[in-house]
Amino acid sequence: MGCNVAHADPSSVPDTLQQRIAACTSCHGVHGEGSSGSGFFPRLAGKPAGYLVLQMQNFQRGLRKYAPMEYTVRPLTLSYMQEIAAYFSAQQVPYARKPLPALAPSALQRGEQLVTAGDPARKIPPCQACHGTQLTGTEPFVPGLVGLPYDYISSQLGSWRTGTRASAAPDCMAEIANRLAPADITAVSAWLASREVPADTHAQAAGSITPPLHCGVLQAQGSGL
Ligand code: HEC
Ligand code: HEC
Repeated sequence: MGCNVAHADPSSVPDTLQQRIAACTSCHGVHGEGSSGSGFFPRLAGKPAGYLVLQMQNFQRGLRKYAPMEYTVRPLTLSYMQEIAAYFSAQQVPYARKPLPALAPSALQRGEQLVTAGDPARKIPPCQACHGTQLTGTEPFVPGLVGLPYDYISSQLGSWRTGTRASAAPDCMAEIANRLAPADITAVSAWLASREVPADTHAQAAGSITPPLHCGVLQAQGSGL
């Protein structure tokens, strides 16, 4: 703890990045590592900066709902959010192993099938088609799916179904989440959470995917179909 603190005049505290992120680290961790255990407070570390800014904007616009987040990001300007996102995106902290539900091998196989091949009968494209062959995401807007806890993945897919999470229309993830059966959500979340995190967790380069479904956020940059 710095001894300078005792001498600081609160009215002259400089406006630094450290101060800006202090509003975030109580929940997300100093390096954006997220909460241990349940993983209720999501990891921010290493996620594509464009994706992090987009989520802050979605909370500001009321598209994604969680009152403490909406309140925290409401006053932030775009350049502020870009700075905060760059900080968290650049953090490299190890991924913690999170608990997995006990599932039958057939459920895990179903999860793997959805990720690698999708389910054409239900018009579900493979998750890999957008989230990348290593599932580490695609710059700038598609987040990785490896290293995320089971509870977080399944609750996000649930949020798209209940409308507490949405993104720019057409909202491809809302469509996909609604095409998944409840048992599919359990299966795909568990299989993803059971994956080893690859040595290189960087998102794939922008433009390296051709999204098989219309996504508003991807079309904005001209890469949607
Ligand atoms: C009171 C606790 C709390 C504070 C403070 C907080 N967050 Fe969050 N944040 C959350 C929770 C919980 C979620 C997940 C909400 C959900 O999806 O239901 C979240 C989600 C996010 C997401 C989306 C993550 C993802 O992978 O989709 C971003 C980005 C984010 N927060 C950034 C910030 C930033 C930047 C700050 C500081 C300016 C901040 N948060 C402050 C609790 C908090
Ligand atoms: C057509 C492209 C596309 C496909 C296919 C796709 N996704 Fe996504 N996914 C996205 C985009 C874009 C986002 C960011 C959405 C936003 O703006 O919030 C996203 C976000 C997510 C998130 C949020 C991660 C976080 O950190 O909060 C989860 C979970 C997710 N997708 C799971 C899946 C699963 C499971 C599948 C396969 C069944 C899948 N996705 C298939 C495009 C896709």
